[in-house]
Amino acid sequence: MAIKKIVLFLVIAFGITAFVVSTGNSSNNSAPNFECIQCHEGSGSAEIGIKGLPKKYIPNKTYKMTLSVVSDMQSSGDNAGGFAIEASAGELKAIDKKNTQASDGILTHTKEGSALRKWTFGWKAPAQKIPVDITVMAVAANGDFSTAGDMVGADGYSIMPGK
Ligand code: HEC
Repeated sequence: MAIKKIVLFLVIAFGITAFVVSTGNSSNNSAPNFECIQCHEGSGSAEIGIKGLPKKYIPNKTYKMTLSVVSDMQSSGDNAGGFAIEASAGELKAIDKKNTQASDGILTHTKEGSALRKWTFGWKAPAQKIPVDITVMAVAANGDFSTAGDMVGADGYSIMPGK
């Protein structure tokens, strides 16, 4: 009887492990798991920098931006970082298709792009003159191919239309 119980326990334990491993699969290359912090607990916070974001935008104009995640932590593996960005209006565009991809309105790194800590992409401003909220999440990875020990950053920007 006791042996049967142990066997049953092992079957359940392995089942759970397999489930956890398979659901994590999407993450070094993919949207739309936007809230990195849900899984990447982080051993500290990473700083996010964004270049090319206008304070006031011109409707329909496309801006080229570079987002970086800054951390002293070195990566000891293939993956050094990742990000996801969402804009409440306008359109985010993957210019660098090797390293970035857009899906469901979220722009994120590709598998190749997770070797980087800096990514360039475009944002086409909306036609209407409305305030736009931009939200960014980023991970500076330690390269151990897990969610442990990575650094996570989050930032938000509000931009207004120009005249
Ligand atoms: C649902 C859980 C989950 C979410 C949410 C998540 N990740 Fe991950 N991430 C994982 C798992 C599991 C791994 C390790 C295995 C893998 O790469 O699939 C991982 C690995 C990574 C790695 C490689 C880490 C290393 O040290 O080698 C990067 C980079 C990464 N994720 C970036 C992100 C970013 C950026 C976000 C948010 C935009 C994010 N992840 C959101 C689960 C998640």
